[in-house]
Amino acid sequence: MAVRHFLSLLDLSTEELRHLIQRAMQMKVQQREGTPHASLAGKTLAMIFEKSSTRTRVSFEVGMQQLGGHALFLSPKDTQLGRGEPIEDSARVLSRMVDAVMIRTFEHEKVERFAAYSRVPVINGLTDLEHPCQLLADMQTWFELRGDIAGRTVVWVGDGNNMCHSYIHAAERLGFELRITCPEGYDPDPLILASGGRSVHMVRDPMEAADGAHLIVTDVWASMGQEQEQSARRRAFGDYVVTSELMARAAPDALFMHCLPAHREEEVSTEVLEGPQSVVWDEAENRLHAQKALLEFLLAWDTQRLPES
Ligand code: CP
Ligand code: NVA
Repeated sequence: MAVRHFLSLLDLSTEELRHLIQRAMQMKVQQREGTPHASLAGKTLAMIFEKSSTRTRVSFEVGMQQLGGHALFLSPKDTQLGRGEPIEDSARVLSRMVDAVMIRTFEHEKVERFAAYSRVPVINGLTDLEHPCQLLADMQTWFELRGDIAGRTVVWVGDGNNMCHSYIHAAERLGFELRITCPEGYDPDPLILASGGRSVHMVRDPMEAADGAHLIVTDVWASMGQEQEQSARRRAFGDYVVTSELMARAAPDALFMHCLPAHREEEVSTEVLEGPQSVVWDEAENRLHAQKALLEFLLAWDTQRLPES
């Protein structure tokens, strides 16, 4: 049977994505109630981090442990990856020893090359192009608090970055309208934008974009690797701050999400981030539950046939 990877949200069908969200919600209850759910006993996940992380690292490591398995943190600084051992060789060696590999890196092409040579599932823990694990958690958070997202309106404010790209994929898979509001020059990748089809629109004016929306989402203006662009980006993004005024244009019960870490008084005001519409802490917690469901899906289920819900 072919190995399933999770390099993009598009690697899951709509049915699989919906199933994973439900399983993540169930696992959250099991974990809170202390119901055993060690479906990955004896399995090992290798985690390669070429960029910093708090949430991704902790949620994968703790998730594997709660599932009865083990996680291994690999930094390029103290493995041969940092000394130039080819990705293709690292993939063939590691995938003979572990059951799955999670990679956080810069070039998306690197995770694709790793996956092409891997015998075991490879998970994208963030690349410059996509952040699909965060979308599992964001969608779980929405479903828990508001039910189905199909037909709702989501607004992406700020940079057309990796998170924005994964939101485009989520809109396509889950059937919500996505309005993207970015300063000129910071739009999402045109090919990814086109893949969203008719449910994704660019709206240059952030206030107009927020009109009647059900969910407002933003992210940092300078992603990891763009530190030298920080001041130019601060100038360009000045009108794209999520403030209480912007939230007031959305529906009265609209939610605010941010993958974190956040810069208060930059992309979002402290008032919004700490306010009643913000669900950022639920989102962060759900990284744990959503990724446990993903690991179980990739490692313990017959991925050709979903279990009955
Ligand atoms: N949201 C997210 O991926 O956080 P970390 O960078 O801390 O993993
Ligand atoms: N867009 C951000 C997300 C961090 C979780 C980055 O790539 O740095």
